[in-house]
Amino acid sequence: MKKTKTAFFCQNCGHQSAKWLGKCPSCDEWNQFVEEEMRDISPGDSLEAWLNEEPISIDTIEADERDRLLTGIAEIDRVLGGGIVGGSAILIGGDPGIGKSTLLLQVMQKLADNGLVALYVSGEESATQIKLRGKRVGASSKNLIVFVEVSLENILKHIKEINPGIVVIDSIQTVYSSVLTSAPGSVSQIREASGKLILMSKKTGIPIFLIGHVTKEGAIAGPKILEHMVDTVLYFEGDSGHTFRIVRNVKNRYGPTNEIGVFEMRESGLVEVSNPSALFLSERPKGAVGSVVVPSMEGTRPVLVEIQSLVSENTFGIPRRTTIGVDRNRVSLLAAVVEKVCGLHLGNHDIFINVAGGVKLDEPAVDLGIISSMMSSFLDRSIDFGTVVCGEVGLTGEVRGVGRMDERIKEASRMGFNRCILPGGTSSSNNLPETEMTRINIDSIRKLPEHLF
Ligand code: TYD
Ligand code: MG
Repeated sequence: MKKTKTAFFCQNCGHQSAKWLGKCPSCDEWNQFVEEEMRDISPGDSLEAWLNEEPISIDTIEADERDRLLTGIAEIDRVLGGGIVGGSAILIGGDPGIGKSTLLLQVMQKLADNGLVALYVSGEESATQIKLRGKRVGASSKNLIVFVEVSLENILKHIKEINPGIVVIDSIQTVYSSVLTSAPGSVSQIREASGKLILMSKKTGIPIFLIGHVTKEGAIAGPKILEHMVDTVLYFEGDSGHTFRIVRNVKNRYGPTNEIGVFEMRESGLVEVSNPSALFLSERPKGAVGSVVVPSMEGTRPVLVEIQSLVSENTFGIPRRTTIGVDRNRVSLLAAVVEKVCGLHLGNHDIFINVAGGVKLDEPAVDLGIISSMMSSFLDRSIDFGTVVCGEVGLTGEVRGVGRMDERIKEASRMGFNRCILPGGTSSSNNLPETEMTRINIDSIRKLPEHLF
């Protein structure tokens, strides 16, 4: 009898080891190793055999950008880079209860309405439960087929039979292949199930959405390889305290990344928010110290967001730097620059920074905004309500140019701002349509306070 080969896999990152380890050498997590069966992929496997294609010259391959499938939900189409590409695999992750199933049911309903056969495979909920959600979001199309199943082999069999135009797997962690003995959700099961499903999609041209659970660290559960295997990775962000949700594109083989789509969770499902700037600024306090607005590029779209700071003296212990929505190390660095260049003694102060609305800002163009808001809180003086700031700041306090300034200024002007503080050498403004915007160019943060207050 053939002995089954096993190995130990880290359930967090997929690291493989011949023996059990307490701590994963790859991701440093403790107690993650589980023994799982290793399976040789046999060349005779019917699915693998599908991919037996001949090498061909690239100029004979036909591909058209217009072949993308439009969902009719503009925010989703934009996040996907202009619709769904045939044969693509899209992974969507997010916290439990954030709205992944709701969103995909709505997307499937839209597509089914347009005559496409949509197959919604669920291993998490019963058909009745899906129907109940469907009632709330208005999903009732004949073409929307609900299939409650966890067996990979059965799912593939039914996909072949039904031949749908699009498939959703809710969720990839529940899919179970009988070829393997390890438990559903384990590294080998996820690898096997997603590998087969992605292959099916590449071969048949049926786009597939895979819903993935996330771990408490916020990464998609199971091995990182899942993210490498798919074409597009979307993350659902937002906190349960707010009704709005952000779908962010972190990987896209067929379009720009970091594009966001903004939604609001209502009684009847997710509703698109086409003007996110207005949403993020809606609760902005007037005349408050520590608050400033920055025009940030989210993918291809400028979005105005508010940064808030609280700088307070620390009388004992090590000063704290706590941030939500911006990088903590970046804030420490900028605080040190402010201290050195402007002589404001932030070193013995606690600094708390929050980006309103749960947005995450990771471009350097918000540096000047972070500094402005820290200065405002430190000096206890509020920044003019109609001012936006934008620019990258270097270690010597120089303010550097950032890309796509015209679009940022246009968005700020559209939202009623009339003054902006920008880097000195910004190349923009020549081809900018006449706006009521007063532009103040600065080349060092030394000059920032005189323009801010
Ligand atoms: P769900 O899509 O089940 O989340 P996930 O699949 O990511 O775990 O979303 C469930 C949440 O959404 C739940 O808290 C209820 C809320 N919700 C609404 O507010 N309105 C609705 O119309 C629906 C369907 C859900
Ligand atoms: Mg769900």
